[in-house]
Amino acid sequence: MKVVFLACSYPPEMQQYTRGLAEVGATVYGVGDQPASALPGSLKQHLSDYLQVPRLLDEDDVVAKVSAWLRGREVDRILANWEVMVLTAARLREKFGMPGMSYDTVKGFRDKQLMKERVRGAGLRTPHSQRVRTVSEVRAAAEKLGYPLVLKPISGAGSADTYRVNDAKELDAVLSKMKHVTECSCEEFISGEEYTFDTVCIGGKPAYMNVAQYLPPPLIARSEEWVSPVIITVRDMEQEKLQKGITLGKNVLGALGMGDGFTHMEWFRKPDGETVFGEIGCRPGGAHLVDQMNYTGDIDLFREWARAVCFGKFEAPTTRKYNAAIIFKRAKGRGRITRIDGLNEFLRRHGQHVVEEQLLKPGAHRRDWKQTLKSDGHIMLRHPDWQKTYDMAFDAATNIQLYAE
Ligand SMILES: Nc1ncnc2c1ncn2[C@@H]1O[C@H](COP(=O)(O)OP(=O)(O)OP(=O)(O)O)[C@@H](O)[C@H]1O
Ligand SMILES: [Mg+2]
Repeated sequence: MKVVFLACSYPPEMQQYTRGLAEVGATVYGVGDQPASALPGSLKQHLSDYLQVPRLLDEDDVVAKVSAWLRGREVDRILANWEVMVLTAARLREKFGMPGMSYDTVKGFRDKQLMKERVRGAGLRTPHSQRVRTVSEVRAAAEKLGYPLVLKPISGAGSADTYRVNDAKELDAVLSKMKHVTECSCEEFISGEEYTFDTVCIGGKPAYMNVAQYLPPPLIARSEEWVSPVIITVRDMEQEKLQKGITLGKNVLGALGMGDGFTHMEWFRKPDGETVFGEIGCRPGGAHLVDQMNYTGDIDLFREWARAVCFGKFEAPTTRKYNAAIIFKRAKGRGRITRIDGLNEFLRRHGQHVVEEQLLKPGAHRRDWKQTLKSDGHIMLRHPDWQKTYDMAFDAATNIQLYAE
């Protein structure tokens, strides 16, 4: 089994997928924009060959360079787990007649409007929305959809340039901030709880499933710096209130023609119980979500994903043992971290349930919380009981404070 894996070293968790591929017995040909000499030894040991390209995001150039590199070689799979590379992988697969999702299928996972049209076309509930390119189109859409609404880029990520708009006056203010965005989705605002639905699929059917709750919804977490965003995987996926969301998720996979690999979907549960689709990617969630799923069941999804995409098998147990919570922290002040208050006390209270403590240490530079959900580090903890997990997570959110200056 010979596999080309695009973006094998960045973002950092991609190195884990490379490891997974090697561990299930694949020969891995990595592609990245770092020089081979800069790759960490822990990654190199899993690569049989490596191609450095100048610009990973230049689809035409990557397709040309990888094609030249593969001339005379036989490969069985061309894969990518980073959102911005999934279409490039699909284009290469088509070019080489390789198994896997087509360019058109992957497009349904990348273009938010096309995605919603396909999901809606299967009779599933999505927010009412319109694709808009000009100010007058936005105003016309707002008139039709009513307030509150959401305005966001068609191919956004990380809630960048995504706004809730409550009335016409706010719309003017938002429009002036969005001048650089060429194509948007204007949609009905869905109030309620927000969850993920994550899978590893084989032939479009989940061999593994996960649900996690965002606390609060990402749009709020990404617009208020004082918030410590919390995400908790749900151990008990049998509970009644999640069933419609899980069914929705499986139906979405069918509607979009999912093949093999990871998916990461977001969905809403309204106060009246109605369930609404948010968005989906044919790749894993970021910001340690895969680690969180691994802690939920004591498994290694980096490796099981590889087994699924290479050999159509998933061998880890799917029993869920814990709710796993991640709590991201943001320091008060700018510059370098100076101190962390409340951590020792927190660890004295709950240390036995903490599986990772990766807060930035004094002296380290703050990260840009707008750019990365990872913010100034995180704590990961787990417990079989949901309420206990929730309480500990919010104890960390409230009582641990980083300072910077
Ligand atoms: N129609 C909507 N109703 C309510 N909230 C919404 C809606 N669309 C988006 N949001 C909020 O904005 C967030 C970001 O939107 P979306 O997930 O579509 O974009 P994204 O930038 O790809 O997100 P990310 O990369 O952070 O997952 C959502 O998680 C949700 O909290
Ligand atoms: Mg999203």
